[in-house]
Amino acid sequence: MREDLKALREQAEAGLRKAETEEELQEIRTRYLGRKGLLTALLRNIGNVPSEERPQFGRQCNEVKESLSAGIDQLLAGLASSKREALLQCERLDVTLPGRGVRHGRLHPVTQVREEICRIFAGLGFSVVEGPEVELDYYNFEALNIPKDHPARDMQDTFYVEDNIVLRTHTSPVQVRIMEKRRPPVRILSPGRVYRRDSDISHTPMFHQIEGLLVDRGITFGDLKGVLTVFLKQVFGEDTALRFRPSFFPFTEPSAEVDIRCVMCSGRGCRVCGQSGWLEILGSGMVDPEVFKNVGYDPEEFTGFAFGLGLERIAMLKFGISDIRLFFESDMRFLEQF
Ligand code: FA5
Ligand code: MG
Repeated sequence: MREDLKALREQAEAGLRKAETEEELQEIRTRYLGRKGLLTALLRNIGNVPSEERPQFGRQCNEVKESLSAGIDQLLAGLASSKREALLQCERLDVTLPGRGVRHGRLHPVTQVREEICRIFAGLGFSVVEGPEVELDYYNFEALNIPKDHPARDMQDTFYVEDNIVLRTHTSPVQVRIMEKRRPPVRILSPGRVYRRDSDISHTPMFHQIEGLLVDRGITFGDLKGVLTVFLKQVFGEDTALRFRPSFFPFTEPSAEVDIRCVMCSGRGCRVCGQSGWLEILGSGMVDPEVFKNVGYDPEEFTGFAFGLGLERIAMLKFGISDIRLFFESDMRFLEQF
């Protein structure tokens, strides 16, 4: 073998032994075998080789070329497979590891209480309806016998959207909307958000009420007491002490507020019940004839009762929560307890 070819082969083989990366190997291929490569140049100058040596020289050049090319391919294949191996190693899954548990959400305590109350009243034949939170003054006040200058409007400090549009201060407007559309018998329950300018340990500017309304022939105050007693004993237990306290609402006559014995202090008097031992949970009464007239019912033919309760109040009593604001702070430590 000619010296120049031999030197070139040794040089190339030494290069292959040192090469560690794909780039280095490709570089060697270009340097020796490329169009302007060293071995290519040697072959191109075959004319300078004495004619009797040419066939042998040509063959040897080709042998070197082939073995070099094969050597490069082999090293490249080796690099590729160890790269894949390393990738498989670091992406390996340990299928024996325990799975990550799915965190379950849960219903907000106010939602739980709403669902429970709706279920109890469904059992008494009431169906659930809803009404708008942004309400006309007419439905929130006027049709409920609370005219513009009526002092009862002060009982429910109101957020006004426009002159005649309010954020409803109670769920009672739903009574009117339903009675406008239906003839008795009516038995509805209407849960939803209501708004008042009110904020302290037992009042928030947004809270939830459930309105109930039952209208038919011959409904009496006895029916009101019976239904509300059955309901409250189902929610709070058979032994719960209740009291019906005379009260006033412009849309009911007579009216009563219902209190239950304070569950925080068992009636001894505390911060939550304002030292009275009782907690007001709902307002109720016999639908006022004026309201019936506003919706076109004949008060001589039909009577009925209505009630409105504060859902947060009931949830507080049921779960022993002393500050209503906790419901709206989205603190998981609180919410996870229910
Ligand atoms: C009313 O809202 C009447 N519409 C209830 C009614 C309906 C009477 C049908 C007769 C017939 P009152 O303003 O008392 O009444 O509110 C009812 C209940 O809502 C209260 O007993 C109380 O539990 C709750 N409540 C009132 N204000 C707030 C407040 N700011 N935050 C939380 N709960 C409140
Ligand atoms: Mg009240």
